[in-house]
Amino acid sequence: MMKLLLTLLSLALGIMAQSYPTTSTTFYNPALPGWHSDPSCIRRDDTFFCVTSTFIAFPGLPVYASKDLRNWRLISHVWNRESQLPGVSWNTTEQQQGMYAATIREHKGEIYVVCEYLGVPGGIIGVLFKTKDPFNDAAWSDPVIFHPKKIDPDLFWDDDDTLYVATQGIIVQKLNTETGELSQPPISLWNGTGGVWPEGPHIYKKDGYYYLLIAEGGTAGDHSITMARSRNLTGPYEPYAGNPVLTARGTQRYFQTVGHGDLFTDKAGNWWGMCLATRSGPAYEIYPMGREAVLFPVTWKEGGWPVMQTIEGRMSGWPSMPVPTRHVPGDGPFVADPDVYDFKAGSSIPKNLIYWRVPRKGSFKITKKGLEIAPSRANLTGTPFDNVETSGQRGLSFIARRQTDTLFTYSVDLVSKPKQPNEEAGVSVFLTQVNHLDLGIVQLPPTNPSKEPQLVFRFRVESHNVPIAVPKPQIVPVPAAWKHSPVRLQISTSNNVTYEFSAMQPGHPESAIKIGTASAQLVSGGNGTFVGSLVGAYATCNGAGKGVDCPKGEPAIFRRWRYTGKGQQISANEVV
Ligand SMILES: *[C@@H]1O[C@H](CO)[C@@H](O)[C@H](O)[C@H]1NC(C)=O
Ligand SMILES: *[C@@H]1O[C@H](CO)[C@@H](O)[C@H](O)[C@H]1NC(C)=O
Ligand SMILES: *[C@@H]1O[C@H](CO)[C@@H](O)[C@H](O)[C@H]1NC(C)=O
Ligand SMILES: *[C@@H]1O[C@H](CO)[C@@H](O)[C@H](O)[C@H]1NC(C)=O
Ligand SMILES: *[C@@H]1O[C@H](CO)[C@@H](O)[C@H](O)[C@H]1NC(C)=O
Ligand SMILES: *[C@@H]1O[C@H](CO)[C@@H](O)[C@H](O)[C@H]1NC(C)=O
Repeated sequence: MMKLLLTLLSLALGIMAQSYPTTSTTFYNPALPGWHSDPSCIRRDDTFFCVTSTFIAFPGLPVYASKDLRNWRLISHVWNRESQLPGVSWNTTEQQQGMYAATIREHKGEIYVVCEYLGVPGGIIGVLFKTKDPFNDAAWSDPVIFHPKKIDPDLFWDDDDTLYVATQGIIVQKLNTETGELSQPPISLWNGTGGVWPEGPHIYKKDGYYYLLIAEGGTAGDHSITMARSRNLTGPYEPYAGNPVLTARGTQRYFQTVGHGDLFTDKAGNWWGMCLATRSGPAYEIYPMGREAVLFPVTWKEGGWPVMQTIEGRMSGWPSMPVPTRHVPGDGPFVADPDVYDFKAGSSIPKNLIYWRVPRKGSFKITKKGLEIAPSRANLTGTPFDNVETSGQRGLSFIARRQTDTLFTYSVDLVSKPKQPNEEAGVSVFLTQVNHLDLGIVQLPPTNPSKEPQLVFRFRVESHNVPIAVPKPQIVPVPAAWKHSPVRLQISTSNNVTYEFSAMQPGHPESAIKIGTASAQLVSGGNGTFVGSLVGAYATCNGAGKGVDCPKGEPAIFRRWRYTGKGQQISANEVV
């Protein structure tokens, strides 16, 4: 009886699964956990490459490579040198401008990444980078600049080698890869099915059709992927009757905001897609990692429309999915690896550590003492839109990695102590300059002239546009016995909604002092709806002195940087 039931059940599942792979290979989403929005991917031989958006973070446009679609190694950043776009980063005022959605494609042996940079005087700058060696930062070219009117450029070379760039709208123009000249006027291809912001276009040629895949509905609850096709690149396009092809709109699923994707094949010829999603559940209140990249198998029969597997935490891949392997060239870490960084003399800044805008020369150095961070006059909040010297526009002394796990522990040892009044060094969960949670050691000026300056732990929250109360700062004196020895500053999550901030003597967890806790909602959405939380270390003098640099003093010295993932929430009731 039981056997019969099981047979019936598996038959039923087989029917429900339609043309999806039957002998399945399990994999987990997000494929690229942590802030990795707007993924675009290709395959070259047996290697898959994906690029994601980075807005004003630098280096920008990370490229991940994988041979098994599970182990993704950070191999380079397309935008990795100030000289590729001189002055652009420091001219950008707002928190969510910079490098928007990119597209990666291969053409005649070279890999191209096209993107658009927003927020500089004069409007959007289109940037087209190329390389023969995506494993090497230095091999990425300076960009060819062009001047599009709309965001989210695609790259599509037709059979005659003409390059078409479709953008938001959806409109298309030819692009001259030498001069950056765009053909005029743009041709309108399709306005989508009526959702707001038809954008993120990608064109594919298959079975005599040009297929146009787009994102629609805005990048939140109504987000979706829709498609249209034409026999002629410039149209007219016939929308798919089954649109949207993929969405979580109106569902109770844990993975929400599903949309903005790209399609590619594996070596066996099976189709796959990557798109963005948010692990929030339908409440859409707590999602500190923002928009993450998720992988899904696609069935795309000849002459038909692609069928995409619903986005879940546990997915069934194609039977021929490559077996897991970490044999991927490159010197960067895999996205799910822990950080074990001791900043030994002669080592370089690890590849997965990033900054908020291009840093000032000399702000970050690895010496025999450890990672030296010269404090910036601007603190993590700064004075946005006001004074360029304290706004953070000239680079913040903040270095961080993405929060990539629901549950994690991050810690770093602060070897030095702030010595000047208002000087501070610490750790932060950082979404934007107006949404961050900081635990610092601060040299507080004396409250009256007869008193001594005070060395304290200060936990403070900056958070805007969130529907909950912002916790008050917590101030705890640094114990006298700790004043001349390193202090470990730690951020951890033991559940999916709260961060805990503590300080301890290295090697003595029993000495830990809990300084503060904060809801992850304070860094979910807010004024950073496009970005995702980073965790890292900073140093500042909180506006003391004049100019962009702090009054002459000593750098903050950090050692023993550790980040360990402890669990991924993949559905409302499952952590893996
Ligand atoms: C940056 O802004 C300054 C001052 O407005 C301007 O002179 C310069 O051309 C800008 N540079 C770039 C690359 O936008
Ligand atoms: C899309 O909408 C614009 C503005 O209404 C219109 O000019 C254009 O013709 C439309 N494009 C298509 C392909 O229908
Ligand atoms: C494709 O579009 C172009 C430009 O509008 C037009 O000249 C050409 O005749 C079209 N071809 C077909 C097969 O519709
Ligand atoms: C946050 O975003 C809102 C809405 O876009 C804006 O009005 C407000 O000025 C922003 N707040 C800060 C502190 O940047
Ligand atoms: C951060 O810097 C600004 C401007 O330089 C200053 O007004 C503010 O008080 C600083 N914040 C803290 C917590 O010291
Ligand atoms: C947190 O976990 C609970 C179940 O323990 C679940 O209901 C909720 O959706 C989760 N929230 C997030 C943001 O992961």
